Order: sequence, then C-alpha cells, then structure tokens
Amino acid sequence: MMSSLFLILFLYLHQRAGKTRVLNEAKGIFLSGREADEMKKPVYLDYNATTPLDHEVAAAMLPFIDKHFGNPSSSYSLGRYSRNAIEQARKQVAALTGCRPDEIVFTSGGTESNNHAIAGAAFAGNEKGRHIITSSIEHPAVMNVCRYLELSGFEVTYLSTDEYGSVRPSDVENALRPDTVLITIMHANNETGAIQPVREIGDIAKRNTILFHTDAAQSAGKIDIRISDRGPDLLSIAGHKLYAPKGIGALFIRGGVKIENLMYGGDQEKGIRPGTENVIHIVALGKACEVALRDFEKNHSIMLSTKARLLEGLQSRVGGRIKLNGKFSDTLPNTLSISFDNIDAGELASLIGKEVLISTGAACHSGSGEISPVLRAMNVDPATAAGTVRISTGKFTSFEEIDYAVRIISDAVLKLN
Ligand SMILES: Cc1ncc(COP(=O)(O)O)c(C=O)c1O
Repeated sequence: MMSSLFLILFLYLHQRAGKTRVLNEAKGIFLSGREADEMKKPVYLDYNATTPLDHEVAAAMLPFIDKHFGNPSSSYSLGRYSRNAIEQARKQVAALTGCRPDEIVFTSGGTESNNHAIAGAAFAGNEKGRHIITSSIEHPAVMNVCRYLELSGFEVTYLSTDEYGSVRPSDVENALRPDTVLITIMHANNETGAIQPVREIGDIAKRNTILFHTDAAQSAGKIDIRISDRGPDLLSIAGHKLYAPKGIGALFIRGGVKIENLMYGGDQEKGIRPGTENVIHIVALGKACEVALRDFEKNHSIMLSTKARLLEGLQSRVGGRIKLNGKFSDTLPNTLSISFDNIDAGELASLIGKEVLISTGAACHSGSGEISPVLRAMNVDPATAAGTVRISTGKFTSFEEIDYAVRIISDAVLKLN
C-alpha cells in the first residue's frame, strides 16, 4: 500500500516536472520551471566580442572528440570518415558564403584569414605594384598586417569614413594608383556595426582589375555575405562570432585568384594552409554556418528587435544624454555604439559589470586607454568618444534581458552624471 502511494506520488511529481519544462525558443534549449523563471546573470550583451557555442554545434563536434579521431589524410576508413566530415563542412561554409566549396580554405580564425588574404595578395601582386588601399576603421587583424607590409616596402592608403562610419566609394576611387594591387575594406565594423559599401567597392576593384578583400568576421550570420560576380575576391570568416568555437575560421579565395603562400608544409587545404586539419573545429564551423543559414530570418529578427528595444528603452530613460554612432538602418542588426554625455565609459562598464556585460570599445583589443581609431576616423570628439560603449545582442538575447539591461545601464548613467 505504502509503496504504491510512493509510486503514485513519484509519477505525479515526475509528470509535473515534465510539464514545467519549457522550451526557451530563443535559446533553443529546455529549461526547468525554476531555471526559466531566473534570468541568467550577468546579462551578456557583447556578442561582437564572441558568441557562446550553439548547442547543435556542440552536438556535431562530440563524435569527433571521442570517436572519429582519424587523420583525414589516412586512406583507411577511419581517416576517410574525417575527410568526408571536412568536405561536408566545406559545403556548409560555402552555402553561407554563396561560393563553390573548392573556394573555401579552413584557417585558425579571422586573424589568420586576414593575414593570408592581405599579405598573400600583396606579395602575389608584387610585380605589378606595391600600393594597398584600406580604411582607418579596420580591425587590428587587418591594420597590423598593413603596417607590417609598409615595413616590407609597400605603401598603404588609410581612408577615413563619413560621420556614420562608412567608407566613401568615391574615396576608394580617388585613392587608386597604377601600382595599386589590393583593396581591403571590412564588410561591417566591429565597434559601430557600420555596414560598408562592399558592392560599390567591388565594382571599382573589378573595373580596375585590382584584388578586393573584405573582412566578414562580424557580418557572417548577421547580414547576407553571399559573394556575387562583382563581389570580393577574398573574404574572411571567424567561427567564434558565429556560435562556433574560438580558433577556427575560413577564407574564401575566388577560383582562379592566386595568392602567395604564407605557410609551407604538407598538401592539406591544397597546400594553401598546410598542417593536419583541425577536424573537430572544422566540423563545428560547418554546422554553425548551416544553422546560421537555416535560421537567418529568425535570428535577424531577434537581433534587430532586441537592439531596437534597447535603444528605445535607453532613449526613454536617459533621453538627451545619448548619441548613436552610425545610422540605425545601416548598421548590423545587433550592434549599438552609444555615447553617453559626460560619462566615462570604463567607469560605466565596471559599475554595471556584475549585472550586464558590455564593451567600452572593440573587446578583443580594448584596455589601451586610447580613443578608438574607429571613432577618430568618424571625427567623433574625444569627450564623446570617452563616453562610448558598444552593446551587441545575439540570437540568445531575450526581451527580458534587454529590459533588465536598460534599467541597470540607465540607473548607472543617472548615478554617474
Ligand atoms: C572585424 C574582425 N576581424 C577579425 C577579427 C579576429 O578574428 P579572430 O578572433 O577569429 O582571430 C575580429 C575579432 O574580434 C573582428 O571583429
């Protein structure tokens, strides 16, 4: 009698627990009732710095962590399994990029892709000339390659932007020289989210038979990066901005385009990127690209609506004290660069740091204490630049998190003012 009562009680509690499990649509995971009631803190609003791993990506990696360890160059079935997984991932990356799979080379991330594209194209064009056009808003993974090339005898023109953080195509055209061998302008800026006119720049490059590279580390998965005939010849992708792990990336090299090798070794990745392939992370990047393409509309709408709610919330609470850097409509759907009047951005970020995570610049190279070169290129005055934060939402961001963040940030701003 006692034992059947226990059984009934157990079944009831079990069923109840099952009922309270809710699907968190945005996060794509099941949460228990209690977990669903509790918002995860601190609220993460720095998706441009890096993204959490997508659960589907993690699941795709698992078999390659504990089972399929074969070297992709081995001819027996264990090796062939890894080889097939790499080729499958190449197709998935190519689908998001809108190119042929044989135009994709796997790298260790955005930095390596940029190095390879820029230095490789510059050295390959050496005989034609030694002039490169770039912008002053590029990530250090582009900027410092250009600086290195200057030390190696290249000349680099650094273009500034309009007040909204966009490079002007006419400036690119005016900077052209008979010895220009490469134009490298990013697809979207990591600090302001400003989307660059890559189609127009691609046209200019094509008309003048100059190679064009774009750093799409921030745009992949957020806006359409598909390559057209007149688009870039080289395009960089970084996995960890796309819900894949850190330390994996890809470089699109248009068929027929020859760039100089930077590494020498075996014939992996057609010899362009030798060394035994990082199968686990390549599989992850492939899955991340597949998910990004499949969920593009849904994720775009989550990012855009959370960004809009954040801006509206802050405007209604701290009103005239806010300035938006960049045009809302011409920036990435997830990125807000906001300057608060009379505020030190560092103080603000540390005051709210236990509750909300935001960036005071480009997170991967912040902490220098200097005014961001991106804001300088946009002609933002030093006082305004000092009060500027970057807030970036992602596919896991909820309205609940945004409302909380608005309250925390605006209370802090009013306190510091
Ligand atoms: C625009 C841009 N390019 C390149 C990179 C570097 O990518 P990775 O960290 O994969 O080397 C980043 C990372 O912050 C970035 O935002």
